[in-house]
Amino acid sequence: MSLKEKIVDERLPQHIAIIMDGNGRWAKKHGKERYEGHYEGVETVRKIVEASAELGIKFLTLYAFSTENWRRPKEEVDALMHLFVETIQQELPTLNKNGIRLRAIGDIASMPQQNIDKLNETMAKTENNSKMDLILALSYSGRWEILDAVKKIVADQKKNLISAEDIDEKLFSTYLNTAGIPDPELLIRTSGELRISNYLLWQIAYTELYITPKLWPEFDKEDLYEAILDFQSRERRFGMTSDQIKR
Ligand code: IPE
Ligand code: IPE
Ligand code: MG
Repeated sequence: MSLKEKIVDERLPQHIAIIMDGNGRWAKKHGKERYEGHYEGVETVRKIVEASAELGIKFLTLYAFSTENWRRPKEEVDALMHLFVETIQQELPTLNKNGIRLRAIGDIASMPQQNIDKLNETMAKTENNSKMDLILALSYSGRWEILDAVKKIVADQKKNLISAEDIDEKLFSTYLNTAGIPDPELLIRTSGELRISNYLLWQIAYTELYITPKLWPEFDKEDLYEAILDFQSRERRFGMTSDQIKR
């Protein structure tokens, strides 16, 4: 039986979040420039998006650029920004063919205007697709998102739209960029770092973590299937006892 066939449809995560890490190390390993690693990483994005949609995953959130990534050398940031525009543009037909809706989370306004325009255009042109949502985290960090939510809550409170007593987890979630999107059940990080790097801090409170040493450009469909199978082998207790879960 292939890995893919072993996946139990009824226990498929609805939402998978990925920290796509290791492009730079992949480039170094192959005697290439860092930007070449990012280009190679786009190939993996294509494969993983396709495989996820094929499996029936409903939401796939990819960490493409963090708030902290602005601190990288200007040439690398410029190359990444260029790569985003180019890729988003190129992928439009494939997104539509596969019923994939493009969305974005993060401080999008901080990106170059060309990126904002392309992103808005592609999001509008894929808006009616409903097989899977592909959510790009761009200029994103969990702390930025939480602070952004707090500012909006304070503004609404000042307008008397909400009061302090109304604020619970459910309401707070509606002020996040991910409003309406279920929390990811599975978070995959490639290239072995044992950290979260400011990703989806609120949303991953009870997410299952899967960290693989594979570098992002080396990660393939089989690796995705393996991560999902690992997830399916776990007992998610949410603070309860094993007996309570089985009942
Ligand atoms: C991930 O790969 C891509 C981005 C952060 C944009 P890296 O560029 O972080 O690769 P490493 O960690 O240096 O290998
Ligand atoms: C996390 O990777 C951000 C993205 C994958 C976009 P980094 O390579 O920036 O994370 P650190 O610096 O190793 O924590
Ligand atoms: Mg990295």
